[in-house]
Amino acid sequence: MSSDSPNITSLELEDRRFPPPDDFAAQANAREELYAEAAADPEAFWTRQTTELLTWETPPTQGVDRSNPPFFTWFADGTLNASVNCLDRHLETRGDRVAFHWEGEPDERVDITYRDLHERVCRLANGLRARGVGKGDRVAIYLGMVPEIVVAMLACARIGAPHTVIFGGFSPDSVRDRVVDCGVTAMITGDGAWRGGKLVALKANVDTALEGAPDVHTCIVVRRTENEVGWVEDRDVWYHDLVADQPAECAPEMVGAEHPLYILYTSGSTGKPKGILHTTGGYLTGVAATHRWVFDLKDDDVYWCAADAGWVTGHSYIVYGPLANGATSVLYEGAPGTPDKDRWWQIVERYAVTILYCAPTAIRTFMKWGVEYPKRHDLSSLRLLGSVGEPINPEAWIWYRDTIGGGTCPVVDTWWQTETGNIMISPLPGVSTLKPGSASRPLPGITADVVDGEGRSVPLGQGGYLVLTEPWPAMLRTLYGDDDRFVETYWSQYEGMYLAGDGCRRDKDGDYWLLGRIDDVMNVSGHRLSTIEIESALVDHPKVAEAAVVGRSDETTGQAIAAFVTLKGDVVGDEALIAELRQHVATKIGGIARPKSIVLTDDLPKTRSGKIMRRLLRDISENRQLGDVTTLANEDVVSDIAGQAEKARSADSG
Ligand code: WT7
Repeated sequence: MSSDSPNITSLELEDRRFPPPDDFAAQANAREELYAEAAADPEAFWTRQTTELLTWETPPTQGVDRSNPPFFTWFADGTLNASVNCLDRHLETRGDRVAFHWEGEPDERVDITYRDLHERVCRLANGLRARGVGKGDRVAIYLGMVPEIVVAMLACARIGAPHTVIFGGFSPDSVRDRVVDCGVTAMITGDGAWRGGKLVALKANVDTALEGAPDVHTCIVVRRTENEVGWVEDRDVWYHDLVADQPAECAPEMVGAEHPLYILYTSGSTGKPKGILHTTGGYLTGVAATHRWVFDLKDDDVYWCAADAGWVTGHSYIVYGPLANGATSVLYEGAPGTPDKDRWWQIVERYAVTILYCAPTAIRTFMKWGVEYPKRHDLSSLRLLGSVGEPINPEAWIWYRDTIGGGTCPVVDTWWQTETGNIMISPLPGVSTLKPGSASRPLPGITADVVDGEGRSVPLGQGGYLVLTEPWPAMLRTLYGDDDRFVETYWSQYEGMYLAGDGCRRDKDGDYWLLGRIDDVMNVSGHRLSTIEIESALVDHPKVAEAAVVGRSDETTGQAIAAFVTLKGDVVGDEALIAELRQHVATKIGGIARPKSIVLTDDLPKTRSGKIMRRLLRDISENRQLGDVTTLANEDVVSDIAGQAEKARSADSG
């Protein structure tokens, strides 16, 4: 990032507005007054939230401690247990309520009540203790989306052992890196997992990974796919054997609010993954509060966060937030297209899901597949939709609202990060007037700004770098084992501000429009352009489902815009369509944004969590060797695109 030309030129004009429906506003959990209350005294505000939402063993008398910035603490003299907050305290009032409607990818369904979940968690927690795992020991969890992944997280929390969940799609090398970096001594995995009709050999991956991790003395194996697995005597134990004789009660380890709850690795743009450390009291406060406000959770809601539990979205909004609030959720094991492309809509109909939270990549995939699949099902139970993970293109937003939400559901576009722990910038569905493509404004108790290269707030209407200006309860506390990198990565650019690494523009109303990662910003003829606006102009074309743009070096303009476009359904692309798309962008947002080249492709390179990897598209566009591909989910598409790009280069449209 350079400071010479700080402003990110923002070109797009999106003027559709959706005020909250009156009936929604009238019953909403979060009201306009929250903003003022929080602004008047943020610390008192968060203290009220934690007192009302959580059950503390020793209620805290401290709020935020600012004595050693950026190592802030929250509620440090309080003690509590996260699993007690998610389970035990609900048993009396809602023990028989369903915590999870679990649905396997093969046709299988199990309803798990709060009482069931509590019992399973206690048995596993006892089993872990029996294997010598205790407070402070790190436990890795490498599972698919089976109920045991939730049980495992809460069992760790129950005994004060920080967990590190490793997404089930990661390779043995990635597993080993994380296990070693984190000093893990026990693992919980499965024989395999079902995904898209295929078996993922979890245990085989673990066996390879653990060859380089001799400190792991225990590996607990959930039986799921019943495939043959290797076995290391003494180290390996079947989950069902371990828990069989364990009591159904387990005394929880009460911990200080700042005791580590989990470490979750997230890839930086370079270098080894960062172990984001979250602690207990502040984190639970943040996720419980934001889950109530943003998703407007009510007793009769059926809530479905369709992320994987292996990402922070799953930690905060499948496990800790919803369970702390006593919600009934859906947990689905498999892929959206298995056995057919209407699987999600079948699930929504079956459980009468009222709230759905997913990623733009999923929404764009559904757009590509076509409306016939959602149209097969009754989706009228839905009352609120959420989006997370990337900027959502306005056309995808509108499609989501109309096709899935029946034209009436508010759509909350929620901006946050693994590091922030909870949703930071988002509409409140009963308060905010929605603008497709905008995440609205910081939630009550959260303060952000958009600044230039020197850290000066830029005027409304301009773009710059997104920063967070005050500590918040669920913030990361450090990078595990690397305080220096924590300070360097987030706190060294500007005095006293957390650098998010995203570009952002505020419009004249003060609403935030996220512009993508700073590393992806392009510089065309001296204009700093964000990727998202040009991508959204492409997605605005009726034949386009998904688009990614990058800057590639260009002798005259510094960088030229190279676009990669996936068309909807059966649309056939040709030179005429490419010309039309280039013109469409120019008409929509101006000649400066007209892509110099467009490559049509069946798919885009994505991370395993579904984010477009523009970095690899830059490598392809500049005909370079590909950079780090360890987080790439779909390797085949890269060579396909490279071939297409080569053709396009030789026929450069200029
Ligand atoms: C990055 C964080 C937060 C849970 C899932 C991702 C991007 C996330 C939005 C949004 C625009 C978004 C940002 C952010 N991002 N949500 N609503 N609009 N961009 O967690 O893997 O830590 O990624 O995702 O670039 O920095 P993560």
